[in-house]
Order: sequence, then structure tokens, then C-alpha cells
Amino acid sequence: MQEFMLTTFKEKFDTDKEPLTFFAPGRINLIGEHTDYNGGYVFPASISFGTYALVSKRDDQIIRFYSMNFPETGVVTIDLDSLDYDTEHDWTNYPKGMMQFMRSQGASISHGVDVLYYGTIPNSAGLSSSASIEMVTGVFLKALFANSFSQLDLVQIGQQVENEYIGVNSGIMDQFAIGMGKQDHAIHLDTSTLDYTYAPIHLPAHQILIIHTNKARTLQDSKYNERREQCESALNDLQKKLDIKHLCDITPDEFERYESLITSPVDKQRAKHAIYENQRTIEALEELKQHNLQQFGKLMNASHQSLKEDYEVTGVELDTIAETAQKQPGVLGARMTGAGFGGCAIAIVEKKYLEQVQQKIQDVYTENIGYEPTFYIANIGDQAKQITNEVM
Ligand code: GLA
Repeated sequence: MQEFMLTTFKEKFDTDKEPLTFFAPGRINLIGEHTDYNGGYVFPASISFGTYALVSKRDDQIIRFYSMNFPETGVVTIDLDSLDYDTEHDWTNYPKGMMQFMRSQGASISHGVDVLYYGTIPNSAGLSSSASIEMVTGVFLKALFANSFSQLDLVQIGQQVENEYIGVNSGIMDQFAIGMGKQDHAIHLDTSTLDYTYAPIHLPAHQILIIHTNKARTLQDSKYNERREQCESALNDLQKKLDIKHLCDITPDEFERYESLITSPVDKQRAKHAIYENQRTIEALEELKQHNLQQFGKLMNASHQSLKEDYEVTGVELDTIAETAQKQPGVLGARMTGAGFGGCAIAIVEKKYLEQVQQKIQDVYTENIGYEPTFYIANIGDQAKQITNEVM
């Protein structure tokens, strides 16, 4: 599998040097959606799809990037002292941002590198391919130049790059899931304190199925930032009476008591989703600990409904998939995962029903939407790290 990457590395960079190999996963989120920028809980897991990076240090100050996913872009050559954002540099802005921000936080990146990237995360799937590129870059920069950085430092720098360099106002969930993930575990993370616990995901009779809508997500970033603003505005209204820092500092009961403080009906709906979703995410961990998979699945279904009705980030494609899946025998629960507006849904499906469920979703989706969904089986893999000392 990795042999072709090595061959391409040597060919594109015209070198005989043996690169080091690193890998960062993508992520799914089991439950806890649009809570991470509201100080609530999330429950993501790193997956076995992700981004490989083959890297070798150079003797000069030149960085050369090549992605096997964007061969048409060719080799992009940059000087180590010209790391500012540049639209023309396209996808390489993600690794450039990591380099710039790690440098400004004390990493002595003294030499250039040749880096080949190869990603196995499906395109525009909402499975965090950009955070995966950031984190694989973070781990190789740490290994080569910045050993004093912790994995959590890399996670936080990744989020800063996304917010301040790329300009997407996202929370910390994606980088945290990718940087701190653990094989066969999901991470129950309190985004207000960054306290977390690993919850074993032991599903001998079930499979996590990822279903990609294949819908292009053109409006995602602006809608995402709009949802954030609506939550902030609801929080401002609540803060007139309540001494809170985040929406998720209050319980659903408190929300019911104080919701009249929120003047805009739309902002009220958004706040309701975040606060109830946070409660569901707390309950989900308990249900999982007690092996109450049926209850866990019901929480997933309720999460989808709230994202559809109150947060309004699903759309007909995700609704068709989640709602069709929820009705099938052998499905514990189904919901959209990630930001929404397209991308993927996940379903927890009893193994013996897997084919039947896929067939039904495929039929209903294709008939209603006009094109096919794509199915992927998710295994929960490990966090971003170096995977070989020498090559293959
Ligand atoms: C995107 C963002 C995350 C999170 C989710 C929604 O994936 O990058 O920070 O807000 O959407 O839960």
C-alpha cells in the first residue's frame, strides 16, 4: 500500500533519500454536534481513513509539497521565510499555516523539507480532511524540529490555524479527535476545560456505517459562521441575567426557565439545540458505559432531529439518509456527523443487517435525490503519529 507513495516521492522530488512516514486519521462524531464552540461536550472518534505524509529534511530553506490527491497542482515550492497565506497556494496553506504558527510559538524550523501527502478520506465528506492535513504536518514538524511540543499543543495550534490563518471559525473537536484519538475508543471531551475520558467502543455485533451524501458543500463555511454568531447572540441575551460563559453552562431545565431572555426566535432555537445536545452527549456516555446500546441509538436519532428542526443544518440529503436508516431493522441509531449542510451521516447497524440496510438507503436516496450515496465502514483507528522510522 505504501510502496506507491515511496515511488512517487522519489520520482517527484528526484531523490534517493529515504523519507519518514507519518499518518493522521480523519474523524467521525458519535454525538455532540455544534456544541464545541458553545463550551459543551463532544464524543468523536478517530477513524482509519486519513492522511499519510512522507517527509525528508533538506539542507536548505526550501519546502516542496506534493499531494497525490491533487496531481494537477504539481510540486509546490515555497521558501521557509514566505509562509503567509496565499490563495494561489491552495491546499498547501494548511501545512504552511502549521509551519508558521509552530514557528511563531517557538519551534526552530531551521531547514526545509520535501513532503508528499496522500489522503484516503473521501473528498468533501465532512470527515475532517483539513484537520487531518494540519495534524499530520504537526506531528512531522514535532518529530523533526520541535520535540518539546506536546500533542495537545499541536491540537491547539491546528485550531488556531483553522481560525486565524484559514479563516474558518471552527471549534476544537476535529483537531482534538485526530490528535488525541485512540484505537477502538471514542473521546468524551468537555470543550470548556479540555478534560476528557476515553470510552471503549466495543461493538461485537454492530458496525459503524458512514454514508456520504455526495452533496457538494459550497455554502458550508458562511452558514457555519452564521450559526456561531446566532449562538453568541443567544448567549449575550442570557448573560443579562445569568452569570455564564458558554451556552452549554446551563441545563435544559434552566434553558426552559430563562429562554424568554433570548429575543430572537431563531437564536432561541439554536440555543435550544446546543443545550439539549449537550445533555444528550452527557447521557450518551452513561448509556455506553451501561451497554445500553438501544438508548445510545435513540439519543443519536434525537440529535439528528434537533439538528434538522432547531439547528437547521441537515438538508434533504442528510435527512433522507438518517431517517431512512432509522426505520430499518438492525439500526440502533443514525444521524448526520460533523458540520452538516451535506457531508456524511453515520449509522450503527447490526452486522447481519448491514447489506440489507445499505441497499434500502441506496434505493430510497437515489430515487429521491437523483444520485447515489457512498458507503464506508468505519474502524476506529489511532491518533496522528509517526508510523515508520525508515521506509516501509
Ligand atoms: C465542524 C467543526 C467542528 C464542530 C463541528 C460541528 O466539524 O470543525 O469544530 O463545530 O463542525 O459539531
